[in-house]
Amino acid sequence: MFTFSLVLALAIPNCLGIWPIPRSLDSGNQILKLSESFAITVGFTNPPQDLLDAVSRTKDSIKTDQLARLVVGRGSTDSNAFRTAESLPGLTVKLEEGASTQPIATEAVAALGLRDESYSLSVSLNGSAELVANTTLGLLRGLSTFEQLWYTYNGTIYTTYAPLTIVNDSPAYPYRGFMLDTARNFFTVSDIKRTLDTMYLVKINVLHWHMTDAQSWPIQIPEFPELAQAGAYSISQSYAPDDIQDVVMYAAERGIDVLVEIDTPGHTSIVGASHPDYVACYLLDWATYASEPPAGQLRLADPAVANFTAGVLSAIAKTLPSTMFSTGGDELNTACYTDDEPTQMILNNTGRTIFEALDDFTATTHGALHDLGKTTVVWEEMVLDYNTTTLRNDTIVMVWVSSEDAAAVVQQGYRIVHAPSNYFYLDCGAGEWISNDPTGNSWCDPFKTWQESYTFDPLENITSDQVHLVLGGEQLLWTEQSGPQNLDSIVWPRAAVSSEIFWTGATLPDGFDRVGNLSEALPRLHDVRYRMVQRGINAINLQPEWCALRPQACDE
Ligand SMILES: *[C@@H]1O[C@H](CO)[C@@H](O)[C@H](O)[C@H]1NC(C)=O
Ligand SMILES: *[C@@H]1O[C@H](CO)[C@@H](O)[C@H](O)[C@H]1NC(C)=O
Ligand SMILES: *[C@@H]1O[C@H](CO)[C@@H](O)[C@H](O)[C@H]1NC(C)=O
Ligand SMILES: *[C@@H]1O[C@H](CO)[C@@H](O)[C@H](O)[C@H]1NC(C)=O
Ligand SMILES: *[C@@H]1O[C@H](CO)[C@@H](O)[C@H](O)[C@H]1NC(C)=O
Ligand SMILES: *[C@@H]1O[C@H](CO)[C@@H](O)[C@H](O)[C@H]1NC(C)=O
Ligand SMILES: *[C@@H]1O[C@H](CO)[C@@H](O)[C@H](O)[C@H]1NC(C)=O
Ligand SMILES: *[C@@H]1O[C@H](CO)[C@@H](O)[C@H](O)[C@H]1NC(C)=O
Ligand SMILES: *[C@@H]1O[C@H](CO)[C@@H](O)[C@H](O)[C@H]1NC(C)=O
Repeated sequence: MFTFSLVLALAIPNCLGIWPIPRSLDSGNQILKLSESFAITVGFTNPPQDLLDAVSRTKDSIKTDQLARLVVGRGSTDSNAFRTAESLPGLTVKLEEGASTQPIATEAVAALGLRDESYSLSVSLNGSAELVANTTLGLLRGLSTFEQLWYTYNGTIYTTYAPLTIVNDSPAYPYRGFMLDTARNFFTVSDIKRTLDTMYLVKINVLHWHMTDAQSWPIQIPEFPELAQAGAYSISQSYAPDDIQDVVMYAAERGIDVLVEIDTPGHTSIVGASHPDYVACYLLDWATYASEPPAGQLRLADPAVANFTAGVLSAIAKTLPSTMFSTGGDELNTACYTDDEPTQMILNNTGRTIFEALDDFTATTHGALHDLGKTTVVWEEMVLDYNTTTLRNDTIVMVWVSSEDAAAVVQQGYRIVHAPSNYFYLDCGAGEWISNDPTGNSWCDPFKTWQESYTFDPLENITSDQVHLVLGGEQLLWTEQSGPQNLDSIVWPRAAVSSEIFWTGATLPDGFDRVGNLSEALPRLHDVRYRMVQRGINAINLQPEWCALRPQACDE
């Protein structure tokens, strides 16, 4: 009996619903009720308003989640213990001695590596609970953990994990992202905010906003109004400067940095709608000149186009608090330039190859962004295929074509964000969207299940002296076949998988390997998914509820 309970005390309780699982955790299995007068007290002077707002949202969520525990009977067997269980009157939120009290929104957009997201949380059975951190951002991370402890049965709010101690939980990687493409199809500010709320819940800290692409230009830039006037699907399907500030501030208050991407010089057909002279192979046969319709790429060899592009990127970047800005750089079609007379003329006159011209173009556009203090982010082709020599050594490279390309990029000394299509693309497996192809499939078939994504090991093929170059990763939604209607269901809960990969790292708090431990992860992923649903998110079911109520019963 003694041995049995010792084992129980060491293992993570099966029902524990925290996602991502903290890196250190010691939890019991006693019931603790939330007092009717439960309060969260901020125990330091001059707390920033966005922390007070976050505290108030946490307090509301605990009451409104009304999540019934994922056990057979959905909590009915817990109710016997309610009469005798202790009640928790409050949570005290404190900063470490001498810590600075900056707003969460300031901490959230600091450069990667300069953010302290660590926190400690204790919930004891004798009526005290305390959350401590070095920063308001750390407190925010602790609040999202605290929210996930609570269930409701018949009006009683309670946890079954008391007492609980988390010491210095902190992320294994600084970049834990989600990418949304708002160009193939449009998403409203409220769709994006709803997504940010859920990102907060699972500690995702970067929204990679792929704003523009070949098909549409939904961003209004006061200095270049013609781009959205001609390039948005409609004026109501575009983001005004205020909309962008609204999203950026809403995100920052939830601990999320917004990394805007304006993809160049490829994926820019839509620029031709207002600047036809700047675009090569504009609306020509897409199968020859582009990876998908419509064709058109910036005439990158033309100095006027490089200057224009630098002006556009700067006009957006200067309005954003993030230290990062992405210029894209994927899928350049060389035939488009080979067959473009103006481009060939310039190349001939200047004695450059198209890739040498790309080097100059990149020097101009990235130079303008560096002047604004931005760290540039690019897709992997800039390093692996175009051999761009003017990239600064602090450029962040996103690896998307295949997870197998990560090793080659870090070998060149660049920092990477894992965004591999073979593990993290949320859009794969939906079939063909090219109209007149009745039997086609999506290029990145099959659908990436949560299980497959969860097996991703960010350090596979990375040597120990290269580990510091791995900043983290993100799951991505390209939206050829998505819109507001399926946003929740195609993203959640799958996009939470990478948040655990990059928060928790390689090891579970009990010392077991996390990587690929699907049986341990699933009950917790169910739990956070059911909580998302309680919050009005249409996250899809991962299994029949019968399985969700019986951990491991549906394993092989
Ligand atoms: C706070 O900072 C100190 C010193 O860097 C560190 O030891 C500690 O882990 C941090 N986190 C918390 C929650 O105190
Ligand atoms: C409650 O228990 C914690 C440890 O679990 C202890 O640090 C604290 O002093 C106790 N408080 C009271 C009021 O007994
Ligand atoms: C729910 O709680 C009320 C008292 O608040 C009690 O009378 C009732 O029996 C409970 N119902 C269940 C199903 O536990
Ligand atoms: C570069 O673009 C800016 C607008 O962004 C324009 O004012 C300037 O004249 C251009 N310079 C050249 C050399 O084309
Ligand atoms: C560029 O030079 C090549 C040969 O070096 C020639 O075939 C081609 O016609 C020239 N193109 C233009 C547009 O001048
Ligand atoms: C870039 O380098 C790779 C590897 O050496 C090579 O395969 C590729 O052809 C090069 N690309 C260009 C445009 O030079
Ligand atoms: C980039 O190069 C500079 C100067 O050589 C060096 O100090 C810095 O550490 C390098 N940065 C990265 C991220 O490698
Ligand atoms: C690691 O490299 C091996 C050999 O090239 C490859 O088979 C494997 O897929 C790579 N791992 C990942 C995660 O891409
Ligand atoms: C997964 O983790 C659990 C404990 O959390 C452990 O019992 C189990 O052995 C682990 N499984 C694998 C495959 O590592």
